[in-house]
Amino acid sequence: MKKTMITFWVIFAFKSFVIGQTDSLIILETKNTQLVYSVKNNSKVYQIYLGEKLTNKVEFTKLKSDKEIYIGAGTSNLFESAIQTTHNDGNPSLDLHFVGKELKTLNDNVTETIIKLADDKYPFEVKLHYKAYYNEDVMEQWAEIIHHEKKPLTLENYASSMIFFDADKYFLTHFYGDWAKDMRVAEEQLQSGIKVIDSKLGTRANVYQTPFFIISPNKPAEENTGEAFAGTLAWTGNFKFTFEVDNQNSLRLISGINPYASQYKLQPNQTFTTPAFIFSYSKSGKEAVSQNLHRWVRKYSLLDGDKPRMTLLNNWEATAFNFDEQKLSGLIGDASKLGVDMFLLDDGWFANKYPRNNDKTSLGDWDVNKTKLPNGLGVLVKEATKQGVKFGIWIEPEMVNPKSELYEKHPDWILRLPNREEHYMRNQLVLDLPNPKVQDFVFSVVDNLMTENPDIAYMKWDCNRPMTSSFSPYLKENQSQMYVDYVLAFYKILDRVRAKYPHLPIMLCSGGGGRIDYGALKYFTEYWPTDNTDGYERVFIQWNYSYYMPAIATCNHITSWGKQSLKYRTDVAMMGKMGYDIMISHFTDKELKFSQDAIKNYNRLSNIVWFGNVYRLVSPYDGNRAVVMYSNDSKTKAVLFSYTLNTLFKEIHQKVKLRGLDASKKYKVKEINLFPDTKSKFVEDNQSFSGDYLMKIGISVSPNTPLTSNVYEITAE
Ligand code: DGJ
Repeated sequence: MKKTMITFWVIFAFKSFVIGQTDSLIILETKNTQLVYSVKNNSKVYQIYLGEKLTNKVEFTKLKSDKEIYIGAGTSNLFESAIQTTHNDGNPSLDLHFVGKELKTLNDNVTETIIKLADDKYPFEVKLHYKAYYNEDVMEQWAEIIHHEKKPLTLENYASSMIFFDADKYFLTHFYGDWAKDMRVAEEQLQSGIKVIDSKLGTRANVYQTPFFIISPNKPAEENTGEAFAGTLAWTGNFKFTFEVDNQNSLRLISGINPYASQYKLQPNQTFTTPAFIFSYSKSGKEAVSQNLHRWVRKYSLLDGDKPRMTLLNNWEATAFNFDEQKLSGLIGDASKLGVDMFLLDDGWFANKYPRNNDKTSLGDWDVNKTKLPNGLGVLVKEATKQGVKFGIWIEPEMVNPKSELYEKHPDWILRLPNREEHYMRNQLVLDLPNPKVQDFVFSVVDNLMTENPDIAYMKWDCNRPMTSSFSPYLKENQSQMYVDYVLAFYKILDRVRAKYPHLPIMLCSGGGGRIDYGALKYFTEYWPTDNTDGYERVFIQWNYSYYMPAIATCNHITSWGKQSLKYRTDVAMMGKMGYDIMISHFTDKELKFSQDAIKNYNRLSNIVWFGNVYRLVSPYDGNRAVVMYSNDSKTKAVLFSYTLNTLFKEIHQKVKLRGLDASKKYKVKEINLFPDTKSKFVEDNQSFSGDYLMKIGISVSPNTPLTSNVYEITAE
């Protein structure tokens, strides 16, 4: 057996040099972009081009480059490497050579190219996979790593992708924040040296740093002109993007799982598959790359990305833990009166020995609380059906409170250091997901609820803390695999959930925003962007999420946070997947009427917001208002949202030039979502304009008054 392996590798290594004798090109392309590699006669693969498509492919041969595709540590490389390991004999080097490529046409739109690399001295192999999505102008890259040495190897670093840029200057746009301060934006010029954007939160990707960025060469990123390269990692855990400007002023971008405290032991013949790095390049600015990514997400990533979503009434902001059957029945009635599709029961419905009446106890004990809900969930589900709405429920199945029966029964199921004090966040600890028994338990939380109440139509899956002071009893001496194995276990559980409940809508929530990455989207239909539901602050937060997350997945709830009018908060929430989390019974008659009409408007127009293209027309960072528009692919229908900001004095607002229309079409512009007894100050009913006029001259859409909002329905005649 061992002998065969050695023979195999001799042939393998030899073959690599034969193939490498002549230069050859590997061209990955989408509608407008090419990423080109060249295999040189030293059998190494170099990136020679990334950018707008070149017409004459032969001219690629004029391009020279020393940018190796996936650089191993320990040889001649003096900058950051993509992969690092130490071989069984103690040799710490990896030198990867070309050994072959494979091209698969997966369908009319998607091709997959596999570039196979192998070390010339050790039986160590890396397959780089590239999927090119032609129409969406999106590419996906990941690596498969395998070795055939006698004993396991420890991977110190294992990037998904390494990409190079050559420009005079590089500008990096990235997003950061904290609880309720999610998705703030920064843009900076990269200077010589390394800039790292990463996270070490374990159970989630973001909050402090977001796994999404935009690089714009030579000048700061612009909305609809100039080069923009947007990238993200499909991984619901620790990520790392390294941006290194080297001595030649080239930019090296390395993306992947954060290797921080995460050395990974790879057994002989076992394959380690990295998550995918996903990117889109355009020379038409941030607008084009975000539209590309939205189209791609809806088609290839987000669960049921082409299906409608439900509007809802949630009870968290309205009642917190303080409810009983009667109160909930009343809220279900309110949902029905309001006209939303569903009632969502949030935290606080479970546990008996330690009832869940605050956030100090009970996580882990997923039995219905008999004091609050003596007749179980079934009665509420039935009440919802009777009232013509669906019923949804909140869970947080990866967590445990020390005051819970689960904690008492299974102390060995918890991530915590054996010899140090437990470190709580929101009074809770994280379960040891790598343990298959824990995976069964977490799956059973969903499965039991669905088995006992098959009419549950929706779930909200929460995750209210990152990992700290963690140690996995299950992983024993392999603690450095905890971060990676946790995410793999999370995906394993979700695979089971999806095998049994393929289309159950589930919102991904993480103590506000937190698990907002393309890896999780495959299992979830929507995400909770932030606990901050202040209408004004949401203008900025939603603006920034719109760079990479499509509106259909972004849950926006109207709550009593913020001092803006109900209309303002409603208009802001409409720019995504709208819901309510507020006491409807406290509404005045006019507020109720306004909300009922707003839901009807939303139901008529949500298709444009969910499946259309976003145009960020006026940035809240450039002036005193934000104007965002969505139009459908056929340019027959659009919705425009305008929000003035919180200025002390009245501001003069000029006309706004629209985008995303057909110049040769005529459009009717109608202001909608008007509060009862008010009239539009901007457009007379049924006023029409040509697309040409709307895009070249534009229209007035906002008053001079601070904190006002306007919504316009634009329909081709
Ligand atoms: C955090 C979430 O972001 C809230 O919406 C709510 O579900 C609470 N958790 C419940 O504990």
